[in-house]
Amino acid sequence: MARNFPHSFIVCECKQVSLGEIIYAIKEKGAKNLEDIENITDAGSSCGCCRSAKDDIGEQKMQLYIEDILNKFVKE
Ligand code: FES
Repeated sequence: MARNFPHSFIVCECKQVSLGEIIYAIKEKGAKNLEDIENITDAGSSCGCCRSAKDDIGEQKMQLYIEDILNKFVKE
């Protein structure tokens, strides 16, 4: 799913964090969950709508959630 978005795609609007930064946090910094992503990139630390579909209380829904990116890139 995350593959369909360019690395410059802004996943977290509040903190202006791009998909590329989140992938970097997972692959290079070892982020494994939403909390790690928040600590490393600041994404998800404001309104929280970008974290997952269930956290998205915004009127206009996000196209891509941090949770989806974690599911795709984090390997056990
Ligand atoms: S869009 Fe990421 S915290 Fe608001």
